[in-house]
Amino acid sequence: MLQYFIETFGCQMNENDSEKIAGMLEAMGYKKAGKPSEADVAVLNTCSVRENADDRFFGHLGIYKALKNENPNMALAVCGCMMQQGHIVDQIKSTYPYVDIIFGTHNISAFPELLESHMQNRDKQLEILSDGPIAEGLPMAREFSHKAYVTIMNGCDNYCSYCIVPMARGREKSRPSSLILEEIEGLARQGTKEIMLLGQNVNSYGIKPGGEISFAALLSKAAQVPGIERIRFMTSHPKDFSDDILDVMSSYGNICKSVHLPMQSGSTSILKAMNRQYTQESYLGLVKKIRSRLKRASISTDIIVGFPGETEEDFEHTLNCIKEAAFESAFTFQYSPRRGTRSFGMLNTVPHKAINDRFARLTDMLHRIMLEKAEGFVGSTEKVLIEGASSKDSSLLTGRTDSNKLVNFTGSGAAGEMVSVNITKAQTFYLVGNMV
Ligand code: 5AD
Ligand code: SF4
Repeated sequence: MLQYFIETFGCQMNENDSEKIAGMLEAMGYKKAGKPSEADVAVLNTCSVRENADDRFFGHLGIYKALKNENPNMALAVCGCMMQQGHIVDQIKSTYPYVDIIFGTHNISAFPELLESHMQNRDKQLEILSDGPIAEGLPMAREFSHKAYVTIMNGCDNYCSYCIVPMARGREKSRPSSLILEEIEGLARQGTKEIMLLGQNVNSYGIKPGGEISFAALLSKAAQVPGIERIRFMTSHPKDFSDDILDVMSSYGNICKSVHLPMQSGSTSILKAMNRQYTQESYLGLVKKIRSRLKRASISTDIIVGFPGETEEDFEHTLNCIKEAAFESAFTFQYSPRRGTRSFGMLNTVPHKAINDRFARLTDMLHRIMLEKAEGFVGSTEKVLIEGASSKDSSLLTGRTDSNKLVNFTGSGAAGEMVSVNITKAQTFYLVGNMV
């Protein structure tokens, strides 16, 4: 029995692509291996959004060199966002000759053919396309049965000056709504309870080639699929988060009132240099509108510290905005220059010491706000979708609230069951409670 092992770096889009790669391998008769050393074919699906993602990947390639020494028949494939950059592919070809197959983000459906050719001839296979449509009709081996990713659009045309995604994922393209709804209906029939609609910029759904209805219309149709108890979506760009999305969100009980709304910076001049196309005031205005339209809305964000030219005053604007927006959660990043982006050559870099200092102050403030927000849950009863046993304490169950907060709780039930939990205690990153 041939076995495969896939390692996925980066975002949910990559995780969904890996589910497609796993699905194709299973259709070819491969079974999932428990560890990389058992694999006949190993796939590394890479992320390029920050330099430390590149470094982690190259570190991992070293591990696979040792594994291939032990098992020279193992086929090693690398794919994903890093492969869309010529200099990375050149580096792999020159420094990591034991990589057998290289493909990019636009041709994952070519993988079975590349693998077969490699298996027959034991030669190198390389196929990278500069852009291409979203692959349809691929089998999927999904990671979970209670929740699922559904890609609705891919690519990005926003060209934020720091971001590699427009180069790695190509131009924005939408999937036809009929195929998206068919996928959601199929998942509902199999018992999936929660759907995450995925796209680099979901608000662009339908505006760009492929989609024929707006994102708000798609969201409302998805919410009407019988059996789907929760719908989430990400990522929303603040510049085009429209009122009709809020109308739909408030009309359907099964659309989670959570919005991932990357702010990146609270300084209007840094936002301009980042090409974000909104200001501090318009961002905060949007947060206020979301909170007034949606009761108990949960807003999460992404923040970059140390973008070129960021002064102490710019950073203080970011801290003030965080206080005012009172985010339920946030992902924080130190600016990482990416080759091929507009900000790559900017000379007004922020010294490391200042970046580290600001980063520490930022996380400190965010964690205090998150804990305060979490404490607001104590005493309430929350609907929680069970994910399974807690990894910390197997006598407890773990699951997520509508607002995507992790809850560890006493009780009984299987993954995919929706239960009510009395919240008794709050921590920064999770809640504690008892099933009612
Ligand atoms: N440096 C640091 N953070 C980045 N992000 C994207 N590109 C970079 C970069 N070059 C962050 C942004 C984005 C998230 C997915 O990753 O905050 O929203
Ligand atoms: Fe990158 Fe900006 Fe597109 Fe998000 S919107 S993927 S940060 S270019």
